[in-house]
Amino acid sequence: MPAPVNIYEYEAHAKAQLAPSEYDFIAGGAADEITLRRTRAVFDAIMLRPRMLVDISQPDLSTTVLGQPVTFPVLVDPAGGHGRAHPDAELATARAAGGAGTVMVLSSGSTYTLEDVAHAATGTIWFQQYLYKDQSLSQRMAHRAQEAGYTALCLTLDSTVRAKRERNIRNDYTSPSSPNYAGLEVQDNAWHRSSDAPRGVNNLIDRAATWPYVEWMAGHTPLPLVVKGIMTAEDARLCAEHGVRGIIVSNHGARQLDTTFASIEVLPEVVDAVQGKCEVYLDGGIRRGTDVLKALALGARAVLIGRPLFWGLAVAGESGVRAVLEMLRDELEIAMTMCGRPTIASLDRSVLGTVSPLLSVLQTPPGLQIPSL
Ligand SMILES: Cc1cc2nc3c(=O)[nH]c(=O)nc-3n(C[C@H](O)[C@H](O)[C@H](O)COP(=O)(O)O)c2cc1C
Repeated sequence: MPAPVNIYEYEAHAKAQLAPSEYDFIAGGAADEITLRRTRAVFDAIMLRPRMLVDISQPDLSTTVLGQPVTFPVLVDPAGGHGRAHPDAELATARAAGGAGTVMVLSSGSTYTLEDVAHAATGTIWFQQYLYKDQSLSQRMAHRAQEAGYTALCLTLDSTVRAKRERNIRNDYTSPSSPNYAGLEVQDNAWHRSSDAPRGVNNLIDRAATWPYVEWMAGHTPLPLVVKGIMTAEDARLCAEHGVRGIIVSNHGARQLDTTFASIEVLPEVVDAVQGKCEVYLDGGIRRGTDVLKALALGARAVLIGRPLFWGLAVAGESGVRAVLEMLRDELEIAMTMCGRPTIASLDRSVLGTVSPLLSVLQTPPGLQIPSL
């Protein structure tokens, strides 16, 4: 196959190399995959309104996340078991993210230990974990991350209940265990068949957790807290009230609950609800620089990518992940300059449109469908 020229082609190359059940685990979504399809449909239906004769001679994609500099606002999402796609796994991903000048969020379900990944990392790293039934385990994990050099803690909130991922059930898929949980009494069960948490770990996650637990965590780690999985203004406001510094608007890549809105659809309500009290990031379906631009214009400070990192890893390890990240950076730069928006701060909602201007001036002839959201 010729070298991939976009992320969709990276996926096609990766699919040709991965075992079908591994490809399905990475690519798949929950149940009917309605939200998975909707996510792309929504991104594709948001149109751009480019402005001319703006000085775009020096585009600047740099920004900060929690005060930490990134050369462009695309971060690496937490995703378990990079070893599915390449033997160098998270060691390669961490080097690629650092080399590209951005942040990697390491999943607690990683193939290598969080300490090994920190050792390999060349840039800023954050650590993702869950709220465990055993609060001292939550604290111990956070402490290990802090000791190893991670500079923020990401709590994933949307994975307390097993998703129904039918591709995995059909394939009788088994998620690998993670060395981060070595020595813990993790009971094996059927959860692993459709869960991103490594084998047995679903039993450790606290299904009774409520907001005071998040606040307790904020008080028991010096690391700033980012929560992942927020999809409503109501929860966004609770984040701001309970010590959270960053929110990832996310439906877990449509892998948990099917028929939610696409994350990009609820981003504005979250941004408006927090009124600048927390930084807001977005993941889910980012495949093009124009997708990044759309999320930033709707108020995200940065976006994160999940599946594309696996496609890069499967194709070419560290250099594949780096190429995927740099492809998004280059596409974002092209889109920003063509829209007349030379900096991240210059992006706002006026660059976007969803309703065809034709609809207000023309009688649409029967049978003509003008795509609109
Ligand atoms: C193979 C795979 C494993 C994942 N594992 C985790 C995980 O361990 N923790 C977590 O918070 N999210 C996990 N996610 C969800 C991602 O962090 C992210 O929310 C999602 O992939 C974003 O959508 P995208 O893949 O369309 O970019 C995983 C996603 C994939 C594809």
